[in-house]
Amino acid sequence: MPKRFLLNGLGAALALAALTGCSSTSRRPPLEIFPDMDRQAKYKPQAASPLFADGRASRRPVAGTVAVGFLKEDQAFHSGVSGGMYLGKNPLTIDRQLLERGQERFNIYCAPCHDRTGMGHGIVSQRTSWLPSNLHDPRQKNMTDGELFSVISDGRRSMPGYKYQVPAGDRWAIVAYVRALQRSTSGTLADVPAELREELR
Ligand code: HEC
Repeated sequence: MPKRFLLNGLGAALALAALTGCSSTSRRPPLEIFPDMDRQAKYKPQAASPLFADGRASRRPVAGTVAVGFLKEDQAFHSGVSGGMYLGKNPLTIDRQLLERGQERFNIYCAPCHDRTGMGHGIVSQRTSWLPSNLHDPRQKNMTDGELFSVISDGRRSMPGYKYQVPAGDRWAIVAYVRALQRSTSGTLADVPAELREELR
């Protein structure tokens, strides 16, 4: 038999052994083909280590340092609050690109509960007794942009916060898009260009 076939056969046998090793229901320990995958010289989070004086394997960040890209100098931008007051207006320039980004992020992060229209009938609320707010209620409409940003960031009552999943720039994009959604249900004939109004009557 040519050497190539022999090697292939050997490879297949090894792969089979590795697979059955993983899914075996036998009480005997599985055959470990690559033990370094199972047993690695590493510490798991929160594990103990005799190497450090405090006995912890996880180290604290060095005091006074900031990870690259995590310096949040613009406090108002990152919290939605300035001088103890919610920001009145979105600090980003509202253009088509921002709204499209906001729409995309809203449909990913908010629609599961609030649904794509913002009425609050998302899939989660259909399957649970959780009641997301209707984003078209006057109270939500009257919130300043900064308050909306802060609800998205830190959550409110039963709503969880999203600041760890959604970066600040995207949260402001969502704020802009929520404003567009809210506006979309309060349009009047006066919003339609004069020459197109006849078509709607
Ligand atoms: C896991 C479900 C869930 C997701 C996802 C979610 N929300 Fe909510 N949201 C809720 C619930 C539930 C409430 C009602 C909170 C209450 O009154 O207890 C709420 C309330 C709100 C309110 C009203 C707060 C108030 O003061 O009444 C706003 C505004 C809001 N959500 C915006 C958003 C936006 C924007 C997103 C996307 C970033 C989002 N939510 C994602 C569940 C969710």
